[in-house]
Amino acid sequence: MASILFVCLGNICRSPTAEGVVRHRIEARGLSEQLEVDSAGTTGYHAGERADARMRAHASRRGYDLTSRARQVSASDFERFDLVVAMDGANHGDLADMAPGETAETKLVRYCDFVPGREGEDVPDPYYGGAEGFERVLDLIEAGADPLIDHVLKATS
Ligand code: 4NP
Repeated sequence: MASILFVCLGNICRSPTAEGVVRHRIEARGLSEQLEVDSAGTTGYHAGERADARMRAHASRRGYDLTSRARQVSASDFERFDLVVAMDGANHGDLADMAPGETAETKLVRYCDFVPGREGEDVPDPYYGGAEGFERVLDLIEAGADPLIDHVLKATS
């Protein structure tokens, strides 16, 4: 079983959406026995909470049910997961600082590296903005979901 962990700041907007959308694609493609996903935050500010109600509402309109509860990422996640996917550059920097051994080089990537034409960019934090920010999160995550799944299946086969 290959595994992916998505990480943002609070684990209530971007990374639970990535978890929900990518899981939806895994199930649609019949890959549930091969690939599992989870999400976490670089902070524990919202630990135990469901995804942000605005994020859940926007996701629900596209057919995604976000069910995860927030938790803080830990160094041991770099041992547990095959790939750790940062949603923006700040998350990437924080994760690189805590990644044990060589795991920052071997396991840490950015979500937009898998979004065609958006390599190296951020999935912008929607928390303090309006509706368009939540739609933008969904647009980017949907665009990268299948390329990311293809990458992980290839890298772990
Ligand atoms: P996320 O969004 O990192 O995509 O979950 C945020 C959630 C909460 C906060 C910031 C960003 N906050 O400052 O509480």
